[in-house]
Amino acid sequence: MTEGIRLRPVTEPDLDTLDEMFADPAQVGEFNWSGFSDPSPWRRRYAENRLLADDKSVLMIEAESATVGFVSWYRLQTGQAAHVFQFGISLLPPARGRGLGTATQSLLARYLFAQSPVHRIQAVTEVENVVEQRSLEKAGFVREAVLKEHTWRDGAWRDEVLYRMLRSELPA
Ligand SMILES: CC(C)(COP(=O)(O)OP(=O)(O)OC[C@H]1O[C@@H](n2cnc3c(N)ncnc32)[C@H](O)[C@@H]1OP(=O)(O)O)[C@@H](O)C(=O)NCCC(=O)NCCS
Repeated sequence: MTEGIRLRPVTEPDLDTLDEMFADPAQVGEFNWSGFSDPSPWRRRYAENRLLADDKSVLMIEAESATVGFVSWYRLQTGQAAHVFQFGISLLPPARGRGLGTATQSLLARYLFAQSPVHRIQAVTEVENVVEQRSLEKAGFVREAVLKEHTWRDGAWRDEVLYRMLRSELPA
């Protein structure tokens, strides 16, 4: 399912792609857009660590050698000695609806469990984002809870759905 797709580190030209995506709700996706934001933190973090750090990382998604979007994740501390990774994804509009979101989220799960001893990874998405919910489910994530009025976007508090994958739930 993940053939032809790869995750790769961000390069300097990708910073323009990321800026353009975050300046346009259609590009980044309406559910991932919460207004214009200062792009300089991306560039500062890129200069510091190429957007690859233990607590917060970004990788670009390539399908058949074309850049089609990005994934990001951060470390969410859940206890003194425990953390999970929470991730997000955005595909450019022409790449959506072809199974790439499912394949990428499968690949990311495999990558995170292989590259770190983390026990649980998770994603939240708005109740209205049925495409992402379906995509997560197809990638093997388990719908766990509805988080009432959990995020603010476009003039309203929005309910979100929490999806998880434990290390033991990674599909074979
Ligand atoms: C969300 C996203 C990553 C999903 O990736 P994708 O490649 O478009 O999705 P996939 O093709 O892998 O899977 C989508 C599934 O949703 C289904 N679907 C599409 N529209 C639907 C609808 N209106 N109602 C129900 N299901 C729908 C598709 O049929 C498909 O399921 P199927 O294979 O069983 O038929 C991608 O669309 C995207 O980047 N969107 C913009 C950003 C975003 O919303 N990110 C997530 C924010 S948390």
